[in-house]
Amino acid sequence: MAQNPYLPHKVKILSIKRQTKIDYTFKLESSIKPDNGQFVEVSLPKIGECPISVSDFGDGWIEMTIRRVGRVTNVLHDLKEGDGMFIRGPYGNGFPLQKYKNKHIVIAAGGTGLAPVKSVVNYFYDRLDLVKQLNLLTGFKSPEDVLFKDELEKWSKDFNVIVTVDQGNKDWTGDVGLITEYVKDMDFSNPEEVEVIVVGPPMMMKFTVQEFLKLGVPEENITVSFERKMCCGIGKCGHCKIDDTYVCLEGPVFNYTKAMELID
Ligand SMILES: Cc1cc2nc3c(=O)[nH]c(=O)nc-3n(C[C@H](O)[C@H](O)[C@H](O)COP(=O)(O)OP(=O)(O)OC[C@H]3O[C@@H](n4cnc5c(N)ncnc54)[C@H](O)[C@@H]3O)c2cc1C
Ligand code: FES
Repeated sequence: MAQNPYLPHKVKILSIKRQTKIDYTFKLESSIKPDNGQFVEVSLPKIGECPISVSDFGDGWIEMTIRRVGRVTNVLHDLKEGDGMFIRGPYGNGFPLQKYKNKHIVIAAGGTGLAPVKSVVNYFYDRLDLVKQLNLLTGFKSPEDVLFKDELEKWSKDFNVIVTVDQGNKDWTGDVGLITEYVKDMDFSNPEEVEVIVVGPPMMMKFTVQEFLKLGVPEENITVSFERKMCCGIGKCGHCKIDDTYVCLEGPVFNYTKAMELID
């Protein structure tokens, strides 16, 4: 039965995967059908509620990757398989997948920014014939912070994946340096055909977008997703508002032509 998106309903935890010390992926039994990039409001009675992106989904399940940062997420991390939590949604908009067909797609994700785009990567990983080329550039603070290691390894067998860390350690044999350095090295024969997705911390998004613009990628070919502070998620409380824009309703995914007006 379709769930009322405005009412929290209980969902069961099917599995929990520890990605890092503070990032866990929860697979939940759920019949909601989100668009790639949408979020849900997750709640625990008497604790609180917070917005979390759906990092992947399939028939009868959704997945969320949650960083332990405070009141709600601390308690979520203490839950076990078989326990329940409440969700309402999905809310916001998703990535415009149709726009990316037959294009060269470059996805640049910083840290937990990989979570909201994971389902987009998987969508095109399963349909590589739909796109001209797919590149994933993902950056983390350190090797201990790398998310979705299994998926990164799987994806890198079939398309170009760069995983870079700000600072390596003695065991790290991969790339080191900021994502922006790797964007500078990209060479687009036809930048008009390139569609870029940038998701991550505000500074990473700002400087990464600038590098793509320098390479000649048109502003309208760049899509970003904002993790702005939100409360209700449905356009009622105004917490997410920037000027006249409700990020929870019109976003969190924005074309850069709109996003550049929203920098506050
Ligand atoms: C659209 C959207 C999608 C999100 N997706 C994810 C996701 O997939 N995984 C994930 O781990 N987190 C995600 N977040 C962030 C998540 O909502 C916050 O980390 C969460 O609200 C923290 O709740 P808490 O009660 O545990 O922490 P609190 O006790 O409320 O806060 C802990 C600390 O985090 C800060 N904080 C709270 N919310 C935010 C925020 N949105 N941005 C920056 N700082 C914040 C607070 O100021 C405080 O310093 C998303 C946020 C939005 C708006
Ligand atoms: S979060 Fe309440 S209006 Fe957007």
